[in-house]
Amino acid sequence: MIKEKIVEELNIEGLTADSVAEVPENFTGDYSIPCFPLAMKLGKNPAQIAKEIVEAFNNEASKSNGANKDKCVIEKLENVGPYINVTLNRNVVASEVDADKLNFDDYNGKVACVEFSSINLAKHPHIGHLCTTIIGACIAKIFEKVGYKVVRINYLGDYGTPFGKMITAFKKWGNKEEVEKIGVDALQDLYVKFCANENEELLSEAREWFKKIEEKDAEAVELYNWIIKISFNEIKHIYNLLGISFDDYNGESYYEGKRDEVIAELKAKNLVFESDGALLVDLNAYGLGNFMVLKSDGTSLYSTRDLAAAIDRKKKYNFDRSLYVTDTAQNLHFKSVFKTLELMGYDWAKDLTHINYGRLSTPQGKIASRRGKVAVLKDIFEVAETRAYEVVKERNLDKQVATDIGVSAISFGLLKTERIKDAVFDIESALNFDGETSVYLQYMNARLNSIFAKAKEQGLVAGEMVDGYKVNDDEFAIIKQIDLYKEMIFDAYKDCEPCYIARYALKLATLFSKFYNNHSILNGEKSEIQFRLGLCEKVKIVLVDCMNLLGVKVIEKM
Ligand code: ARG
Repeated sequence: MIKEKIVEELNIEGLTADSVAEVPENFTGDYSIPCFPLAMKLGKNPAQIAKEIVEAFNNEASKSNGANKDKCVIEKLENVGPYINVTLNRNVVASEVDADKLNFDDYNGKVACVEFSSINLAKHPHIGHLCTTIIGACIAKIFEKVGYKVVRINYLGDYGTPFGKMITAFKKWGNKEEVEKIGVDALQDLYVKFCANENEELLSEAREWFKKIEEKDAEAVELYNWIIKISFNEIKHIYNLLGISFDDYNGESYYEGKRDEVIAELKAKNLVFESDGALLVDLNAYGLGNFMVLKSDGTSLYSTRDLAAAIDRKKKYNFDRSLYVTDTAQNLHFKSVFKTLELMGYDWAKDLTHINYGRLSTPQGKIASRRGKVAVLKDIFEVAETRAYEVVKERNLDKQVATDIGVSAISFGLLKTERIKDAVFDIESALNFDGETSVYLQYMNARLNSIFAKAKEQGLVAGEMVDGYKVNDDEFAIIKQIDLYKEMIFDAYKDCEPCYIARYALKLATLFSKFYNNHSILNGEKSEIQFRLGLCEKVKIVLVDCMNLLGVKVIEKM
């Protein structure tokens, strides 16, 4: 990493790689070091420090008569006010930057639980579940990339009165063959019918069925399992399309079975108080209000099950980090869960993180209108595939390519904005070949492939840079971008922010496209061809790595 090298060569106490920044526009050089933090530390004027550093460096360089200059990444330092602008020695940098060093294992051996997707069964997964699924899948991969062993957890919403309602509706109006044939749609219709006809009698029947499920009544359990199976089929198809699998599917019903232990522990640790028959944890001192863990009718809550799940995961996986990917609406819930665990004396509560994200909507009247108010996941994929097929037909590509393009557009469309921001997902713009899209990345990769194919035909191969080769601006911009890869991945890891990777990949693709348009790769001097082919190989490695992390499918030919 070049920034580290710069710091090493400057050898100034207190200067770290983080303080090396992009050079501000209209200035010469490759990187810039603002001297404000150094000035603070030393209690000096920043412009003065910048000047001193540059002078000292130049003095040193002239003393040694430039002896080592050919091996240093710094070619020139310039002082502009409180900044030090660094111009790099392109050839040294070009030979330093190596795309093969992209597998890092700084967190080797650590374990991270990543809980995501966590759909509610017996209902259509909706657009919010799409976010958790795609963001979670990406974060799991980022953690793996930096060396964690990741446990992917799908905390299924497989518990609660909706199942009682569903069984009641099914018994009244349902037909087994029809549900098996149609799937979740039929279940959803039954649920809607229940709600439309809801009255005390129906509700008490639903409670009765739910109770029977809990008491393991044979018929109730059979129906319950059947509903779960039907619901899961729909999402299974989507997980397959996205290439996602999980290691642990223990959901809310599983942790309902462990709630008594948690309640007993909370009582033993004197953390609960009673109010109107309900049990609560007093979190007012932390601005979180009272956190209910048991209702007055003795039934447990979402909160209790999450406490049980966190404790169980720690026992089972002994995680170093445990993440929960859900929307911002659950901020208070997770803060309360984490705080309660901390008060229970679990010091690992500090290792729990809520990865929240903003609201996602689809443009009015597009996908959402198909089935009433909520956009259903299945429809989003269908629309994306159909539109992608229209796009690829014009280009004579086959159906599988359409699926790959459509699915990738969905993933990338969601990941390219900061996760906390509310966003609109528009499939039309996600499929634009020239936009900030996954198709653009896929297209650049296919272009690289065709360069390699042509090179092979002509017997041209990549090679080392020959001495005296002059690295041009477009080439050097790519080299610098590749050099930033590792730093970007660690930032994405630290902030759990997939959009850094998306932005990085777009920039790399754009730089490559510029280079490709301005220079001929396969016609030129032998030294040029071999260097440029080598550069293309590096671009390909990094681009494909980003695409894999982002769930963008690599299409060999387009
Ligand atoms: N199933 C819930 C929902 O769809 C999300 C579960 C989030 N995870 C958790 N551990 N509470 O809203």
